[in-house]
Amino acid sequence: MTPVLEATGLRVVHRTRSGPLHAVSDVSLRLERRRILALVGESGSGKSSIAKAILRLPAPTAGTVTLDGIDLSTASGRALRALRPRIQMVFQDPLSSLNPRRRVKDIVAEPLDAHPDPHRLPDRAARVAELLDAVGLSAAVFGDRRPHQLSGGQAQRVAIARALAAEPQVLIADEAVSALDVSAQATVLNLLRGLTDELGLAGLFISHDLGVVRTVSDDVAVLHLGRLCEQGPTEAVLAAPAHPYTAALLAAVPEPGRPLGETLLLPTDPPSPLDPPSGCRFRTRCPLATERCAAEDPASRPVGPGRAVACHHPLLPVDAA
Ligand SMILES: Nc1ncnc2c1ncn2[C@@H]1O[C@H](COP(=O)(O)OP(=O)(O)OP(=O)(O)O)[C@@H](O)[C@H]1O
Ligand SMILES: [Mg+2]
Repeated sequence: MTPVLEATGLRVVHRTRSGPLHAVSDVSLRLERRRILALVGESGSGKSSIAKAILRLPAPTAGTVTLDGIDLSTASGRALRALRPRIQMVFQDPLSSLNPRRRVKDIVAEPLDAHPDPHRLPDRAARVAELLDAVGLSAAVFGDRRPHQLSGGQAQRVAIARALAAEPQVLIADEAVSALDVSAQATVLNLLRGLTDELGLAGLFISHDLGVVRTVSDDVAVLHLGRLCEQGPTEAVLAAPAHPYTAALLAAVPEPGRPLGETLLLPTDPPSPLDPPSGCRFRTRCPLATERCAAEDPASRPVGPGRAVACHHPLLPVDAA
């Protein structure tokens, strides 16, 4: 299947006073229609940096992003302006992303109002009602409200309706449910799943919470200190992780019935991205690390159907070459 969006060899280096900070190193991802890819990793692992690099806010230090086969890095200003709305993003804090002075109906219509040729659009009010309906909100009840008159979950649904108004092909949700309580989380997750299926979107769902990832995503990519550890279908990866880091993340998710002794917690904080370890970036925290891990950065290798792992000592046998 051809991906809707393909990021290849993404690298993000931030210039800081203490020197170059390697936030994202050689990350490649594919987003497909009607599928949600979850990007997981600890705080500071580079998840938001990847999302921003895809949106060119700012452009990545290296690497390419193609949308429907068109390279965004070489697209002309005009072509880029036409393509950019096709990738929409929803953020963690819904209230701060909504203009507090505007009414819900005008917030949702922002992408419509920005359209270069408004005459080609359907009736604004009808379209706004349709978009609010798609996220489970009634225009009659919510249209005239302002953001402070919404709950967190309702505000996040308004943010999603606004994203949909741009008729995106790709929807990126960066910790979009992390600030919500459990029941609002469930509503928004169901909504994201349903919209992905109905509208044929390609989703990138960013989260540090493997429990949430399990319920919403088809595929998962695990990030540690700016590098991908493993990728593959969510069910397979979570049932039997191939990378020790995924196993450690998984063990940190509380689960009823599992003896605490089996919980393998990461003993240390991640190393500094200002001075990442040589070789494998997980080796200083890894119970399986050997000399080879310090000397050689592990390449990504296939490990079962649709799966890949970057580890010298994976927990599953890698496919024979
Ligand atoms: N503008 C910037 N200038 C300098 N360093 C930055 C900048 N933005 C991010 N970083 C650094 O890049 C690294 C990755 O940050 P990023 O925000 O992508 O992580 P994250 O995985 O989204 O974390 P979180 O889960 O906390 O949102 C961190 O070490 C962060 O401090
Ligand atoms: Mg982030």
